[in-house]
Amino acid sequence: MNHHALAIDGPAGAGKSTVAKILAKKLGYTYIDTGAMYRATTYKALRLKVDLDDPEAFGFLDSTPMTFRDGILFMDGEDVSEKIRTHSVSNNVSVVASHIPVRNKLVAIQQKIAQDDNVVMDGRDIGTIVLPQADLKIYMTASVEERARRRHEENLANGIESDYQKIQKDIERRDKIDSSRAYNPLRQAEDAVYLDTSHLDIEQVSEQIYRQFMMIIDAKRSE
Ligand code: DC
Repeated sequence: MNHHALAIDGPAGAGKSTVAKILAKKLGYTYIDTGAMYRATTYKALRLKVDLDDPEAFGFLDSTPMTFRDGILFMDGEDVSEKIRTHSVSNNVSVVASHIPVRNKLVAIQQKIAQDDNVVMDGRDIGTIVLPQADLKIYMTASVEERARRRHEENLANGIESDYQKIQKDIERRDKIDSSRAYNPLRQAEDAVYLDTSHLDIEQVSEQIYRQFMMIIDAKRSE
């Protein structure tokens, strides 16, 4: 691999995307939110009214360009960042992300991006499947209660109606689907650094990862 890569995996709400964005900015790398790609696929499938349970119904991906600019995903040339955060997308994305043809297609796009650019990439299978050669792999998690609390406060801060119990149940449901699917489930890579962020703040987490990453890169440069 000619370019550098930092892979961050973990369950929903662990703080991956916030930390990944901070690190990408600090490093001057491209931030790739792979969850956004599964969400965008779900959004388009809902719009096209294809059968979400049919793994073969996602052929439209072959003619659906997805690109990132400044951390924002463009699908078919359109900024889809808001459209992919709706309840209907969130409720259906785990099923869509369990289909082998969908995963193979999106993983290939992600690998191509990392071939051409230095990246900070977050998701569920980055260290295990997408970029097994990443310079540093982080597996970031936090307790279900803490992840639900963060999501709940984020909603309230954004003026979105929020029910803590419902969020907690939803996180538990998604964790179960994401880690029990047969193909490329969420799991920690053997050589990933495990980080429980339940009692850490985002700045501390980012700083800790930044220092580790720079040590690795500096050592590689002086080889
Ligand atoms: O990170 P997120 O909540 O936006 O991810 C949305 C969904 O996509 C979630 O159900 C897990 C799935 N996903 C995945 O299977 N593999 C990835 N690399 C990223 C996300």
